[in-house]
Amino acid sequence: MRVHVADHRLITHKLTYLRDERTDSPTFRRLVEELVTLLAYEATRDVRTEPVEIRTPVATTTGIKLSSPKPLVVPILRAGLGMLDGMVRILPSAEVGFLGMVRNEETLAAVTYANRLPDDLSGRQCYVLDPMLATGGTLVMAIQYLVERGADDITAITLLAAPEGIAHVEQELAGLDVPVTLVTGAVDERLNEHGYIVPGLGDAGDRLYG
Ligand code: PRP
Repeated sequence: MRVHVADHRLITHKLTYLRDERTDSPTFRRLVEELVTLLAYEATRDVRTEPVEIRTPVATTTGIKLSSPKPLVVPILRAGLGMLDGMVRILPSAEVGFLGMVRNEETLAAVTYANRLPDDLSGRQCYVLDPMLATGGTLVMAIQYLVERGADDITAITLLAAPEGIAHVEQELAGLDVPVTLVTGAVDERLNEHGYIVPGLGDAGDRLYG
């Protein structure tokens, strides 16, 4: 897995407010949207395109347009939903599929309660949205669903990731012949005994919607 840590100062600045426990829900939501827009800029660097001829008022020139089939954006509910608007703002023609997944807080295993992905993802580029990569169990399962349906290029966008989670995803995906990229705003210190990212930002779903 290619890991890109987008350590741009504006991203770190916005993450600082996001982490702060005094940040209220409306501000938290706005920051998540702003952050995903900045991260998406990096994550879509290799979005598939094809040449297109256009006429300006002055001359004919060749530009690019997004290739078909269009990319699929997959927010992982709940918390990933907070990233969807920011993402489709810069990729308005993307299709959207949904995965509802929740971690069992005792075993830390991911459980899927909703799967609304297109059946056939052959040849599709996919962008998975989830603010947190903690143990990595959720992301591994999400990637497996996409690969089973034929996705051939997957980029996960997270705001924060734990080193243990990144290592787990890399281990679980070893041998997979589909390219997987992680674009994250920061890699934090570690996971605590409850599977929370330290220093992290707490429970993203609760802070967005609780
Ligand atoms: C959080 C987070 C990820 C998952 C990460 O979701 O948004 O989906 O945990 O954990 P992992 O890397 O250890 O699998 P949560 O289960 O709290 O559900 P929610 O988004 O509905 O709050």
